[in-house]
Amino acid sequence: GAPIEVDLAPIAEGQDVKVFWRGKPIYISHRTKKQVDAARSVNVASLPDPQSDEARTKAGHEQWLVVIGICTHLGCIPIAHEGSYDGFFCPCHGSVYDTSGRIRQGPAPANLPVPPYQFVSDTKIQIG
Ligand code: FES
Repeated sequence: GAPIEVDLAPIAEGQDVKVFWRGKPIYISHRTKKQVDAARSVNVASLPDPQSDEARTKAGHEQWLVVIGICTHLGCIPIAHEGSYDGFFCPCHGSVYDTSGRIRQGPAPANLPVPPYQFVSDTKIQIG
């Protein structure tokens, strides 16, 4: 599949959009400062799939989270802004992901993957 470009300008702080890339749902979250702080104040070593928020986002654009919206348990599509970590909740078997898309509770073994993407301007990304 070809890369896609997504204009971030219309996505207000605290909102998410879902786009499709290679037939996969991609969540793009414009995180609030509170959500970024929550993602960064975690003891990474304590996580089931230890990854820092810094490693999952782009420096200088830390308000943006881009993840593949496919639960790493059995492939359901998690719901954004649900669950006790203000991130994503998978209704199939109750996996809970945090504001960095990292698995925190439930049967999923791994974080929501970050697709390959880059900022082509301050308000536009290219995925793929
Ligand atoms: Fe998401 Fe099972 S598919 S918790």
